[in-house]
Amino acid sequence: MKVEKLSELGGVSVEGVDLSAARSTGEDRVLMALLDEHGLVVFRDQKLTKRQLVEAGGPFGGAMLNKPTVAPDPEALGISVLSTRGADGDMMPDDPDRIMGKIEWHSDQGYLVQPNRGKILYAVQAPPEGGMTGFIDGQLTYNGLPQDLREQVEGLHVIQSWAHSVPYQGVDRDLRRNDDAELHANKFADVVYPVVYPHPVTGVKVLNCPPLWAAGFLELSGPAGEALLARLEAHITQPQFQYWHQYRTGDAVLWDNWRFLHGASGTPGRHVRTLWSMSINPGPLLGMTTEEAALRQAAA
Ligand SMILES: [Fe+2]
Repeated sequence: MKVEKLSELGGVSVEGVDLSAARSTGEDRVLMALLDEHGLVVFRDQKLTKRQLVEAGGPFGGAMLNKPTVAPDPEALGISVLSTRGADGDMMPDDPDRIMGKIEWHSDQGYLVQPNRGKILYAVQAPPEGGMTGFIDGQLTYNGLPQDLREQVEGLHVIQSWAHSVPYQGVDRDLRRNDDAELHANKFADVVYPVVYPHPVTGVKVLNCPPLWAAGFLELSGPAGEALLARLEAHITQPQFQYWHQYRTGDAVLWDNWRFLHGASGTPGRHVRTLWSMSINPGPLLGMTTEEAALRQAAA
């Protein structure tokens, strides 16, 4: 196994591991340790069937077989097909220059109290340009907080809202397949997350304020809350924190969804880009319902 640094912002690339092959418990532990330490692991040169991709999630917590917003793939539960040509390869963009599938920075399932542990995106067909997935490490953005901002966000809670995200979702390939009725604003009730939380596995502090979901703060509303949200999002999304992964066909990109935000650059319509996505099961609760948050506030 050859492990190399992926970028100056962290993450690693791994050569010499075949995710479709059987591995010993010891080997699986090594892979799990890479995920815990680096949070972003790119396995190069994979050749996987959908079922093998589902099985590849095993050592990291197992594949989620029922995703809240995505219809199950008929060939393998737990897989979603993300393609610029549609799930059936039948869609052609009217404009070859049109950017398809751009997605704002987010955590997956950040509209639920118990989001998935991580995800693998496997590049079945990488485009020659574009089609990148961007990553922002919440440990780096926490460490990079100016002192005054660090003090302001300590103990604050961010309201993560599906309704807030709806205007941005028209550009999401995956969600656009849903009909309008399914996209309505009340599909999921708002939830509340700490802006800073210790990572459930490593205990390292993570800064959490995903722009796609973040609608405001529980403890700070009005113009002061809006100003803080704008400043925090501007801090998190600084180019110096962004790593953009340009896929090679055969890359299987695994990341820690409790630590990293991700986004999609989108792909020019003239290129074919097909990824298979596999989410890893959730673990402890990271967020809480608004009712629970209100009870806690009343008790405090
Ligand atoms: Fe996502």
